Amino acid sequence: MCGIVGYVGGQSATPIIVEGLRKLEYRGYDSAGVAVIHGGQTQIRRAVGKLKNLDKLLLEQPLTGSLGIGHTRWATHGRPSEQNAHPHETDGITVVHNGIIENYLQLKQRLQEMGRKFKSETDTEIMAHLVATEMQGGKDFVTAVRSALSQVRGAYAFVILCQKEPDKIITAKNASPIVLGIGDDESFVASDIPALLAHTRKVVFLEDGQMAVLTKKEVTITTLKGEPVQFTPRHIDWSPVMAEKGGHKHFMHKEIFEQPTAIADTIRGRVLMEEARVHLDGMNLDVKSLRRLVIVACGTSYHSGLVGKFIIEAIARIPVEVDLASEFRYRSPVIDKETGILAISQSGETADTLAAIKEGKSLGASVFAVCNVIESSIARECLGSGGVLYTHAGPEIGVASTKAFTTQLVALYLLAIHFGRERGTLSKEKATEMLNHLRQIPQQIEGMLSREASLISIARRYSKARDFLYLGRGPNYPIALEGALKLKEISYIHAEGYSAGEMKHGPIALIDDKMPTVGIATSGPFYEKTVSNLEEVRAREGKLIIIATEGDSKIATIADDVFLVPKNDPLLDPILTVVPLQLIAYHIADLNGTDVDQPRNLAKSVTVE
Ligand code: G6P
Repeated sequence: MCGIVGYVGGQSATPIIVEGLRKLEYRGYDSAGVAVIHGGQTQIRRAVGKLKNLDKLLLEQPLTGSLGIGHTRWATHGRPSEQNAHPHETDGITVVHNGIIENYLQLKQRLQEMGRKFKSETDTEIMAHLVATEMQGGKDFVTAVRSALSQVRGAYAFVILCQKEPDKIITAKNASPIVLGIGDDESFVASDIPALLAHTRKVVFLEDGQMAVLTKKEVTITTLKGEPVQFTPRHIDWSPVMAEKGGHKHFMHKEIFEQPTAIADTIRGRVLMEEARVHLDGMNLDVKSLRRLVIVACGTSYHSGLVGKFIIEAIARIPVEVDLASEFRYRSPVIDKETGILAISQSGETADTLAAIKEGKSLGASVFAVCNVIESSIARECLGSGGVLYTHAGPEIGVASTKAFTTQLVALYLLAIHFGRERGTLSKEKATEMLNHLRQIPQQIEGMLSREASLISIARRYSKARDFLYLGRGPNYPIALEGALKLKEISYIHAEGYSAGEMKHGPIALIDDKMPTVGIATSGPFYEKTVSNLEEVRAREGKLIIIATEGDSKIATIADDVFLVPKNDPLLDPILTVVPLQLIAYHIADLNGTDVDQPRNLAKSVTVE
């Protein structure tokens, strides 16, 4: 969601801030702004739209100064506009903010009754007024921020400047991420690590309920009450180039092609072949006492949860429910101490998923996570409970999730084998066979990626269709959902995913010669049934693109287009079948000229409800 960058030191702040914001572009935003204090004056530049608009403004009206803050905004309170863009300033107090102030209406009313005038429709501006009011009452900057925070309810990451004390930046957080960067005679603050990597690798993650004061020389952290907090910076070894496009036209394309490496990295060091066991670092779950598992997730991660149910039930014989995190948290779920709650989240910051595990934890369940971002809020929530299984996909920048999804599937497979072995439902022989199959996946995906040209031809043939239907059964049913989601996210073409067996209960009415259907019919227990569902499409003159298994010579007789995936364990098929669907969606979007990496209205990390 919104990005934050702040700098205090000896260099010019503006380029550092704007470049930092650029590294956070993947979060999605609709406006951007920077504030710098120089010569006792705060100067602000803000622009609607992409950062290039802010760049242009800064060229016309440059900002000098070595202390400043910047923000990319994704509208929550108040439409996207220059007025609503951050930073917000009043009486020399300047604020940027991520999150939502829940009691903002009451606070705004009270401030208005005191005669305060608001310039924007945002909840953020309230914070500037609160701090300014406290300072007018005689408090210093730090004490004023502390009292202002005590009045605010909700999720926030604030970064604040004060014209009267132009040597420091104050930041505080509750539920939205903040990371501090420590340099030589300079300090940084950001909402995410990529914004800092070009300058420092020494970072500190601020915890909920903490506040930090950054000056050129030092960073101090306290609780909101002012008690000092001891901290040890961590060293981050991501290279900044890991976040570059590396020769691909879009991050999404690069990330699709990174899947073999990302998957190999996720398996690496976790398979003990001799014992046919899986070693899961960072997991403290009592697997044997688990009676039931509930998976909570959103978006693409929810689809991996649906595949996870299939895999875990088949291998470990534990009943699994999969819930959309936004539904789970509000439906009074039945949870007890023998229930494990598994959150799946690429970013580890999705507000609904975070709230769902907090709810589960309060009901006595062990919570654990499959997550891609170390030290993210969801990961930290699980560390003291069931633990975290990190996918090692590396930073994912394209808004549409690809490598994060396939590495989640790999993690779930490892988890299922671990559960199966621990609970005695999986023999050593069978586990050995499965682990061998899993280890073939990176190479098998490499092979499919080398056949991209045939997927480009398919994309060309269907790029002008306005509706698509995706059908699959068994573990490929969630892949039909994911294939449809990928297409609609980045190409804005209407697409529906359905269980092939359900087609006759509704979607069949849509089929005609203008509507392409993508069917997933890999060999295995669901093959015959899926093919007969696809024959029903053919009989109604629907166009058929079928993903099948190598060696299937019969499928071409019913399909208009075929893409063959390598043969593997049918339980692993989803990791293979999703790859051609990602590339079909990508190329259709690219042919239609949409903003593939930052599709309209979508955000990479959704930190509000
Ligand atoms: C957003 C992203 C999706 C993602 C979903 C859940 O909607 O655009 O790609 O699947 O959030 O995110 P998470 O980080 O929790 O996996």
